[in-house]
Amino acid sequence: MKVLVIGSGAREHAIAWCAASSPRVTKVFCAPGNPGVGAVAQLLPIKATDTEGLLKAVIDHQIGITVVGPEVALEAGVVDLFQANGKVIVGPTKAAAMLESSKAFAKEVMVEAGVPTASYEVFTSRKDLEQHCATQGAPLVLKADGLASGKGVFVIEEASQFAPAIEALYESLKAERVVAEEFLRGVEVSCIFAANGSEVIPLAPAHDYKRLSDNDQGPNTGGMGSVCPTPRISESELAWIQEHCAAPILRVMRERGAPFRGFLYAGLMVPTDPAKRPSGIRVLEYNTRLGDPECQAILARLASDPIELFEWIAGVSDKRPQLVWKREVSTCVVIASDGYPEAPVKGDEVRGLEFAALVPDTVVFHAATNTDSHGNIVSGGGRTLTVVGLGSDYQAARGAAYKVVDLVQLRGRRVRRDIGS
Ligand code: AMP
Ligand code: GLY
Repeated sequence: MKVLVIGSGAREHAIAWCAASSPRVTKVFCAPGNPGVGAVAQLLPIKATDTEGLLKAVIDHQIGITVVGPEVALEAGVVDLFQANGKVIVGPTKAAAMLESSKAFAKEVMVEAGVPTASYEVFTSRKDLEQHCATQGAPLVLKADGLASGKGVFVIEEASQFAPAIEALYESLKAERVVAEEFLRGVEVSCIFAANGSEVIPLAPAHDYKRLSDNDQGPNTGGMGSVCPTPRISESELAWIQEHCAAPILRVMRERGAPFRGFLYAGLMVPTDPAKRPSGIRVLEYNTRLGDPECQAILARLASDPIELFEWIAGVSDKRPQLVWKREVSTCVVIASDGYPEAPVKGDEVRGLEFAALVPDTVVFHAATNTDSHGNIVSGGGRTLTVVGLGSDYQAARGAAYKVVDLVQLRGRRVRRDIGS
């Protein structure tokens, strides 16, 4: 079978690498991909949002199944177009992907499904929001409705932060609707569920590191690292999350005529006090895709055939796959370019990849990389590489990952040293 992966980051590199490991797969394509993905897949120069171009490629190359990586492709309606043309695709329709693309819609569905989440109000007028902030005071969380690549969330810890956040929401983000919600305390966990429209299967749970610098300091990023399985929740807590935070969403989406097929990612706040768990666990947000960099840490541990999982999600097969995970745990460390996340620099050469490739129990996935006119790998601006280390415990996994991180050179790079510690 031929497989197409849509997207160009390290998440998509990991999906392509994982698909290539299936004995049923004869060839993997990736559109548009990056030079790293090119080692495991044939790259097609088609943008992730060029839905017609992607459909044509699937017909021309007789591709059997397509896996969507990024939310922009979902938002562009690639799943709707493929389904209308009888093509097998792993991902939610545009209507179902609103669970990620609209914070207000997600909240509405959560309330209808009885999912535990922060209390909130939706504002359509700036004046009303300002008034609400003045009465509520800090801490409070303000979220722009709509996709904003993680830049639309403002965690207000003190009142002086309200004015610049509101300014940014209305002036730079042009938010039409803003969700103001209760501030939650705890640790974050990412639980991703495979969903076939009516049932869910949990993937191994993970957590990511959103802040740029060690000890969760500095600005928010797309994610600077991840660990799988996360030690932050137990197996029984994962079962509770499945029952209370994933399955009810599938029911409500089905009732609303927009059944959810794809990966449902629940971003959760978990109280640190064990006495408050599991009942104090709250959903922060849903994403309608695999997380980046959670996906890299998760798929590096998948020991069963990914195609069985993809076919079940897409509705080709009713056979519920038994997911098998390696016993090793994984740690994924992001190497970002100079200036990330405010003003990422591109074009710096990435050196040492040939030595990194020799380190056992590790795999390097390319995020934003390009090839220069001499054939060298250069940074594409932003998260550049993700390095996954596997080991019998967290220390071993992190040791393997950082061995590679230390062999790779990139001028001015940004790396956290505390992933998995
Ligand atoms: P979101 O895109 O909604 O997940 O928000 C991005 C980040 O903001 C989350 O990963 C949290 O770190 C933080 N955050 C979001 N909502 C809340 C909340 N209600 N309380 C505390 N922190 C939050
Ligand atoms: N790592 C968080 C995300 O993919 O949105």
